[in-house]
Amino acid sequence: MREQLELPLYQVAPQAMIGLTPERLGTFQDSLRAPIHRWFKYPAGYSYKLVEALIEDYSLGAGSWLLDPFVGSGTTSVVAKQRGVNSVGIEAHPFVHWAAKVKCFWEYDMGQLHQSIHRLLTHLHRPPDFPGNESLSEFPKLIHKCYSDRNLWSLKFIRDSIEEYSPTAEIGDFFRLALTDTLRAASKAGTGWPYIAPSKYHEKNERPALEVFSQTVQRMYRDLVTVLAERRIADVQTRLLLMDTRQPYPIEPESVDLAVTSPPYLNNYDYADRTRLEMYFFGWAKSWRDITEKVRDKLIIAATTQVRRTEFQENPISPSIRGLEPMLYEELADKVGQLAAIRLHKGGKKNYDLMVAGYFNDMLLMIQQVYRVLKPHATFVMVLGDSAPYGVYIPTEEYLGRLALAVGFRDYSVQNLRERGGKWGHNPQRHKVMLKEGLLLVQK
Ligand SMILES: C[S@@+](CC[C@H](N)C(=O)[O-])C[C@H]1O[C@@H](n2cnc3c(N)ncnc32)[C@H](O)[C@@H]1O
Repeated sequence: MREQLELPLYQVAPQAMIGLTPERLGTFQDSLRAPIHRWFKYPAGYSYKLVEALIEDYSLGAGSWLLDPFVGSGTTSVVAKQRGVNSVGIEAHPFVHWAAKVKCFWEYDMGQLHQSIHRLLTHLHRPPDFPGNESLSEFPKLIHKCYSDRNLWSLKFIRDSIEEYSPTAEIGDFFRLALTDTLRAASKAGTGWPYIAPSKYHEKNERPALEVFSQTVQRMYRDLVTVLAERRIADVQTRLLLMDTRQPYPIEPESVDLAVTSPPYLNNYDYADRTRLEMYFFGWAKSWRDITEKVRDKLIIAATTQVRRTEFQENPISPSIRGLEPMLYEELADKVGQLAAIRLHKGGKKNYDLMVAGYFNDMLLMIQQVYRVLKPHATFVMVLGDSAPYGVYIPTEEYLGRLALAVGFRDYSVQNLRERGGKWGHNPQRHKVMLKEGLLLVQK
């Protein structure tokens, strides 16, 4: 297996990789067009093709268990279910976890679903007159910036009609996920959101919510018909746990055949903010603070918006890292020290030093959990990007590989998928360090 790991992944099982574009495996591009995967467009998601290829490579089948400790919108779980492989996915973001659950529920009475779609769409085609702006007072300002009043009213009408026209909880969730997708497609807010806040300058064409919703629901129904027809094994378990992946999850030790994941990268991406529009619209949250309590504080540290300086010790790096890998600890302490000094001379004074320390502290806990549940000799594959906050290069794959060895894994290797960060080249504020995305393969 050691020799196998040293070969590029593409030589391990060339058959499984034919037709794959390595640059896209770490991105959601392929998944945007694939049945089921496209139900929730998660920019942080990865390609379903990577999961398919790994299931082939590691010969997983009926009775095997696949784990994804950062399952996000459920790409891994959907592919596993299609292939008849049991899976466990862990996700701490409640909205994203909900979306993954809806994508993984296929056990509808299809006749009843079809009839419910028909009834709901018929009802929606006869909308009452717009009752005026007062009817929209429940929505925070941000939502108003994304839609004209009439379109927002249509969205609200759809949302409220779903309550009335869903005979089962699952059908209600199916409709709500279609409405979630509609929220982005129908909005006039620019596509750069959430990086670029909705504004007149970035506006795109608004689309009529009723039309978008109707098309989306019908496409989702056709997707279900397609995957159900292609499915080979129906007797499969798909567990999606809403919990913190740093905590011991309810899985037997040494029971998992393969772990695959794409953890948050150390790139200051605020996952909690990604679903602000959706959470505000459905009433899951009303303010930034709400989202911090319900989401931001539950995720591993990967963005400065998650860092509160007062909550860190004077030495922010966990003593566990020092105990397990003293050399790595020294290198990390040096990087963190550099960042602590540089930030003082920067306008934003970003807490990158604590973000980096917190990231590795948290990732160590995650690796320990994965180690606990993997079978001996099993592999853990991570899709990862490196980073360079304030231009200080952090070799993320290497550091995590070394942490894995310290935890007890026997070996690790890294394979590049693509270079990244080039699109920011014109920005004088940004560092010029070339970054990449790759696979970190760790073997127990
Ligand atoms: C890169 S995304 C994974 C995307 C996934 N591969 C997909 O295709 O949808 C990383 C995910 O880790 C989740 N996450 C962050 N901290 C977590 C934690 N402590 N426990 C569980 N999940 C967490 C984030 O909410 C995010 O959805």
